[in-house]
Amino acid sequence: MRALITGVNGFVGNHLAKYLQSQGIEVFGTTSQINGTDDVSNLNIYMNDLTSELSIIKLLNEIQPDHIYHLAGQSKVKESWDFKVATINTNVNLTLNLLEAARKSSIFDKVRILTVGSSEEYGRVNDMTLPIDENVSLKPTNPYGISKATISYFAKQYFDAYGLKVVHARPFNHIGPGQKQGFVVTDFSSQIVKLEKESGDKIIRVGNLEAQRDFTDVRDIVRAYYKLLMTASRSFGDVYNVCSGLPITINSILHKLLSFSDQNIEVVIDPSKLRPIDIPLYIGNNQKIKELTGWKQEFSLDTTLSDVLDYIRKQ
Ligand code: GDD
Repeated sequence: MRALITGVNGFVGNHLAKYLQSQGIEVFGTTSQINGTDDVSNLNIYMNDLTSELSIIKLLNEIQPDHIYHLAGQSKVKESWDFKVATINTNVNLTLNLLEAARKSSIFDKVRILTVGSSEEYGRVNDMTLPIDENVSLKPTNPYGISKATISYFAKQYFDAYGLKVVHARPFNHIGPGQKQGFVVTDFSSQIVKLEKESGDKIIRVGNLEAQRDFTDVRDIVRAYYKLLMTASRSFGDVYNVCSGLPITINSILHKLLSFSDQNIEVVIDPSKLRPIDIPLYIGNNQKIKELTGWKQEFSLDTTLSDVLDYIRKQ
C-alpha cells in the first residue's frame, strides 16, 4: 500500500510518516521546504508546494497512492490574525488544488483522502452543546477557523458532487515531541528548558491561562487519521472529531510542566501573548470516531508533557 502525505516535513507529517511506515506502508511526501524530516528515513520526498493543479495531477499519476493525508497548511491560530490572506490561500486554495487534481487524476476511483480541519471550526459554542459533537453548527471566531471550516465544506462537496472518497478530521489540540514554537506546550516547555540552562532571573512569560482545551498526543492523532482512511466507505463525505473529551486548563498544563523541572520559576502574564478573541472552553465528543474505528488514546497527558520537555532538552 502507498500513502502520500502533504506537508510531510511538519510536526504531524513526521509522526504520521513514522507510524505509516511501522504499518508496512510505503510513504511518499510533499513539502515546500527542503529541511526538517527529522528522524524519518526511507521517505520519498517531492518538492511540491501544491500551487499548481497540473503538477499535482502529474505527481498523483506517478505515485498512485491509495491514501492521501493532506496536512500541508498554516496551523497557527494567533498567526492567522496577522496573515489572514496567507492563511486562506494556504489552507483553502491548496486543498482545492489537491481535491481538483485528485478528481482529474488516474487514481480518482480508488484513492482515499483525509482533509484535516480543527476544533476551531466550531468557534463560539453554547454551553448546552458541550462536549462538542460533529452536528454542532460552525461559527468560527478567527481566520484560521474560517479557513478550516471552508475546507470541511469542500470535502463534503467533492464527495457529494463527484464521489471523491474524502473524510474530514476535526482534531482538537494536539501536542507532542517535535511541535514547533507558537503552540502553548512548546512555548512553555522551551522557556522552561532555557531557564534550566541559564543563570539569572527565572521568569516564564505566558498568555491566557484561563482557557480550557482538549489535548491529545500527536502519536494518538496520527493513528486516528490512519484508522479513518482504513475504515470502510461509511466514513466518506463525513466529519470526525479527534479528541480526548477532557477539558484541561492552560494553567494546569503550565503547572504540570513546571513540576517536571527542578527550577523555581516565576510566572508573568505577557499581554503580547493574548489574542483578540480566545474561546474559553473547548471539549470535544469523540463517540463517533470511537464507534466507527475503535480508536482510543494511549498516551497520558503526563507522558506527553514529559516527552516534550525531554525532546527539547535534547535539542
Ligand atoms: N501558543 C500559545 N503560547 N498559547 C498560549 C500561551 C503561549 O505562550 N499562553 C497561553 N496560551 C493559550 C492560548 O491563548 C489558547 O487559549 C491556548 O493556550 C492554546 O493555544 P495554542 O497551543 O496556540 O492552540 P490553539 O488552541 O490556539 O490552536 C491549536 O489547536 C487547534 C485545535 O483546537 C492549534 O494546534 C491548531 O492548529 C489546532 O487546529
